Amino acid sequence: MLFSKLTSPIALAPMAGGFNTPQLAAAVANAGGMGSFGFAYSTPDHIDRTLHQTASLTDGPLNANFFVFPELEAPSTELLAEATQALGELPTPVPVEIPALTEPYAPNLDAQLEAVWRHRPAALTFHFGLPPEHAVEQAHRQNIAVGVTATCLREAKLIAAAGADFVVAQGWEAGGHRGIFTADAEDEALPLLALVRALSKDLSIPIVAAGGLMNGGGIAKVIAAGATAAQLGTAFLCCDEAGTPATHREVLTAAAAETVFTLAFSGRPARGVRNTFIEAMAGKPVLPFPQQNTLTGSLRQWAASAEQPGFQSVWSGSGLGGIRPMSAAQLMATLKHELARAAIRS
Ligand SMILES: Cc1cc2nc3c(=O)[nH]c(=O)nc-3n(C[C@H](O)[C@H](O)[C@H](O)COP(=O)(O)O)c2cc1C
Repeated sequence: MLFSKLTSPIALAPMAGGFNTPQLAAAVANAGGMGSFGFAYSTPDHIDRTLHQTASLTDGPLNANFFVFPELEAPSTELLAEATQALGELPTPVPVEIPALTEPYAPNLDAQLEAVWRHRPAALTFHFGLPPEHAVEQAHRQNIAVGVTATCLREAKLIAAAGADFVVAQGWEAGGHRGIFTADAEDEALPLLALVRALSKDLSIPIVAAGGLMNGGGIAKVIAAGATAAQLGTAFLCCDEAGTPATHREVLTAAAAETVFTLAFSGRPARGVRNTFIEAMAGKPVLPFPQQNTLTGSLRQWAASAEQPGFQSVWSGSGLGGIRPMSAAQLMATLKHELARAAIRS
């Protein structure tokens, strides 16, 4: 069973976009936690190379994470024109060309999963909905535990009924994309502790709690509320081994940084540091996910190379004030120490 392999109930959150390097994932796994990779947009070749490289750094448990992309039609000519115009009108210091939208709109999950079947990480997780049945069956044939993100009890019940081995309970505080199954559905916006309590009353599969956890005291609270483990993303973003660019690190650790939800980068709600892009795009037309992500691709690439964080998606949880820049091994040791102290006190 996956969780008996952990000597610390702590998982690195999967974070698509180059944050989860092999060195970061391995450091967490070597410290008794679970190392993760956000492979949502990765090519099969990149997934293969990353898992291969990480296997030379650790024998510990790893999690390969993917998005469940929707089947999409081409957007109407009118909406595409409006969304493209909104991006073209952004106050960038130089004009940035917005690309034409071409198919396929999303990566091929089956092709991505080939590398997973070859490397057999301990866990395979999905965000934005239920994975295809054949993926769950194949994972189970290979003794890989399957987890899926839930933002409410209704989603968690569907996940358990689909044969998943655990639920990742994502609280409102969490950084990055909200894993809600339907992007435009009514969102219960449950804070993490309330969500874990609601899920633990009804579910018989383990719960991994994610969202705003920055220290061992917070981890102790979600475990006391019924979680088996905690998943931390933002807390690891400024670790030495993370792939986080220097401009993001500066933004994340700036005293004035605050986080908000936006649809404008990808078409799905995601929590990140409020910046010029988010403010300028408020109320503007956006394409559905992931078409909007493709449309903003050249802008995000330009912003990264021109070191313009005002136009980048700097995803972060609401706990960013608690970021502690240090090595991942030091952070894991600190979290374990705090968790042990919190357990003695309670
Ligand atoms: C930079 C960033 C990227 C993320 N990418 C993914 C992802 O690819 N897949 C996923 O399931 N969750 C993703 N998340 C959400 C995390 O899995 C997790 O829910 C979140 O980090 C927990 O909140 P915290 O950041 O406050 O710890 C991402 C979060 C961040 C901060």
